[in-house]
Amino acid sequence: MKPVAIVFDLFGTLLDIASLRTAAARYTSDPAAFVGTWREKQLGYAFAATIMDRYEDFDALTARALAYAAARHGLSATDRDWERLAAQWRRLAPYADAPAALTALRAAGAACAILTNGTPATAHAALRAANLADAIDVTLSVDAVRVYKPDPRVYASVTAHFGAPAERIVFVTANGWDATGAAEFGLRVVWCNRTQAPAETFGAAPACVIGGLDELSAAVAKLAD
Ligand code: LAC
Repeated sequence: MKPVAIVFDLFGTLLDIASLRTAAARYTSDPAAFVGTWREKQLGYAFAATIMDRYEDFDALTARALAYAAARHGLSATDRDWERLAAQWRRLAPYADAPAALTALRAAGAACAILTNGTPATAHAALRAANLADAIDVTLSVDAVRVYKPDPRVYASVTAHFGAPAERIVFVTANGWDATGAAEFGLRVVWCNRTQAPAETFGAAPACVIGGLDELSAAVAKLAD
């Protein structure tokens, strides 16, 4: 049965977090390692905030994770420099396969949405900067429920918004842990495994795995059969 909506994770699925390395190179000789620490701690703080029931929005956690990564890598800069670097999350480059994938889905009549840990303001700014905003019908942020993925209340906000059962929603993410959380909730999950990572060994498996968003239309058509 045709899905009610195709819902995308944002950072790391439509937008390339590695594009932060260009701005980070001003402060470190190893931007890849620095951005890796930054992202890992950003997610770690999101998991901790949910388990500890101590919500701060993703912009605040991203800034805290940046301060940690700077200390971890022995970097120093002015507060203004760090603010400018954190603001780069609103200017991430889209993956090369993202625009065509969204265009094809919309041409087929699908509603396309975002479900992100990001704040509404940052998510909207990032989609506009990446020229993807016109392809997205609605952007849902965890800010509405004040807990982070993979808490089931996050995925429940999608079924509530669309007034549809979980099995009528396709969720697309490149993050294995996000794919697990959404599959546990009952969404039809397409895991975009760009890095050929091993399958997660904890939690429900995705409905299907693709290597890039160029394979998405065919995967969605197969799920609709
Ligand atoms: C997001 C991050 C977790 O956009 O990828 O939700």
